[in-house]
Amino acid sequence: MKVLLLGYSSLARRRVLPALASLGVRDIDVASVSRGADVALPPGVTGRCYDDYRVALARTDAALAYVSTVNSTHEELAERALERGLHVAVDKPACLSVDASRRLVQLARKRGCCLAEATVYAYHPLYREVRRIFGDAGRAPTRLTAAFSFPPLTADNYRYRAALGGGSLLDLGPYAVTLGRVLLDGAAPESIACRVVERAGEVESSFSVLMTFPGGRSLVGHYGMTTGYQNRLDVLGPDVAVTIDRAFSPPADLPIQLGVAERDRRRTVEVPAADSFAEFFRSVFGAIARGEHDELAATLLADAALLNELRRAAATPAPLTSSAL
Ligand SMILES: NC(=O)c1ccc[n+]([C@@H]2O[C@H](COP(=O)([O-])OP(=O)(O)OC[C@H]3O[C@@H](n4cnc5c(N)ncnc54)[C@H](OP(=O)(O)O)[C@@H]3O)[C@@H](O)[C@H]2O)c1
Repeated sequence: MKVLLLGYSSLARRRVLPALASLGVRDIDVASVSRGADVALPPGVTGRCYDDYRVALARTDAALAYVSTVNSTHEELAERALERGLHVAVDKPACLSVDASRRLVQLARKRGCCLAEATVYAYHPLYREVRRIFGDAGRAPTRLTAAFSFPPLTADNYRYRAALGGGSLLDLGPYAVTLGRVLLDGAAPESIACRVVERAGEVESSFSVLMTFPGGRSLVGHYGMTTGYQNRLDVLGPDVAVTIDRAFSPPADLPIQLGVAERDRRRTVEVPAADSFAEFFRSVFGAIARGEHDELAATLLADAALLNELRRAAATPAPLTSSAL
């Protein structure tokens, strides 16, 4: 399938283009406003370069557009691509509001096009392995503890600009709101308490969250761009605990070690290297080939609704009153 890449982002260079090449995609057009023709395609891949998204969308004969720009432009580019009848995959967060997500999903359905959000971590086989470990023990996860943070970025990063869709809630919130569907049987949270704990200029730079799920299950998480690099998830259930390092961006070229504790037994389970972006694309290509992509759009919309709830919870903090102390 031929692909049009909209935005020659850092992510596209590091993960998206190599993943597409690894699946045998040989035709990739690239539209980059800042780079024009100054783009490097993986060995064996050819395609046209554009310095204007509109022109690229008008001229390309690609079947799928991948939107990899700053968050504030995802919606408009995805909409234009869908209007042209292209299938669309878009970096997370797909849209900045749940209303916009709903509109795009309706448009995709009207056009018979696939619309998928590239929240790809859950496509890594390590998650299948975690579910298998719990299943083999006859147990299910009940507590999740997540930490996903990185040190401050350079000041020109769009994540510090509100107008470009920056801030930690939009950048890292998608990792928080998707864990219920990935590890808690698809459950949606019953409640979300979220606090912005640090700000950097015009955006929130770190937040902490507590979610409760039906059946006495919960998630606690710290997310942000002010503390050291951490990318870890602890999955806990009766008699079983699994620790995952690099849980939210597993590298494509290294095996993942799962730390497993079952009662008094401790072991390490190695999950072979896998590329979560390639697995995501494999799933998208398969869905397009079968004409069965509604679930991808429904997932995008459900995740958008939860991201909206997370941001709403963060905007309505409930400080302790002095009389309660
Ligand atoms: N799933 C994951 O694991 C993962 C990881 C990291 C990032 N992401 C997502 O990937 C997307 C790209 O992130 P990134 O860090 O790779 O982005 P980036 O390299 O900072 O920039 C992305 C593109 O946006 C355009 N752009 C940059 N600054 C702009 C500005 N000031 N105004 C308008 N457009 C601007 C440029 O497009 P042109 O090339 O057209 O000039 C640039 O190539 C984000 O949506 C992010 O959330 C996902």
